[in-house]
Amino acid sequence: MGGLPFDARTGERLEALYRIGDSVRRRRLVRAALGAAPGERILDVGCGPGFYCAELLEEVGPDGAVVGVDGSPQMLALAARRCEGHDNVEFREGDATALPVQDATFDATLCVQVLEYVPDVAAALGELRRALRPGGRAVVWDVDWRTVSWHSADAARMERVLGAWDEHLVHPALPSRLAAAMRAAGFEHVEMEGHSFATAEFDAERYGPATASMIRSFVPGHNGVDEDDAESWAAEQRSLGERGEFYFACIQFCFTAVSPAR
Ligand SMILES: C[S@@+](CC[C@H](N)C(=O)[O-])C[C@H]1O[C@@H](n2cnc3c(N)ncnc32)[C@H](O)[C@@H]1O
Repeated sequence: MGGLPFDARTGERLEALYRIGDSVRRRRLVRAALGAAPGERILDVGCGPGFYCAELLEEVGPDGAVVGVDGSPQMLALAARRCEGHDNVEFREGDATALPVQDATFDATLCVQVLEYVPDVAAALGELRRALRPGGRAVVWDVDWRTVSWHSADAARMERVLGAWDEHLVHPALPSRLAAAMRAAGFEHVEMEGHSFATAEFDAERYGPATASMIRSFVPGHNGVDEDDAESWAAEQRSLGERGEFYFACIQFCFTAVSPAR
């Protein structure tokens, strides 16, 4: 079976997920790493429903511009709606490995939780670099799903569910290879910072509990998990939460780099 489809249903789920406290925190970290300044041109690759584009428009101001690229028309429609009323934002349908942008036309680019879905990561990194002016900045953020530690009384079922969830994307542990891949793509000053997303509360504002409903929907039919397994896994998590025994932790990684000055 295939991975996660970035269709209207996933769009609705991401609209909700990206409003929670942990997503707001993640965007704050990404924007701090990017350091967009007034007047800059920013490229958001895999812009999804456009939360970053909307926030970056505030940072670059009326003299700057934001271009969002995504492979999904449904995501682009949500992004366009979110940024309505701005004439310095543009959305283009395209693949991360063949960006519909001119060479060296952006001051900075971001690509947040996208490359883990892209089979040819080297090609996508080459495109990020091509889009940047000499000395331009890149921020790439991905999750290392191998770092997930998630409590369950049924460890074998948890392992099967997480194995099934790995099938929603192409690279479950991309951060372990990303620094080397960015250097191989010609980026300089590549740096990595890990950020933990951990909670002992079954709190919908936190990344683990908020992702649980997406996992519950996706996993049946993957890695030997059926509907009953998925429902009992989800029910156990709710009940652990009610008893004060919930625990989720994972590390997400922020990579920063600079395009070489020519
Ligand atoms: C998990 S969402 C992240 C959205 C956004 N970057 C954010 O963090 O708010 C992944 C996005 O990447 C897009 N995507 C996945 N593979 C892509 C590809 N090969 N080219 C362009 N976009 C892609 C999906 O359509 C989806 O909108």
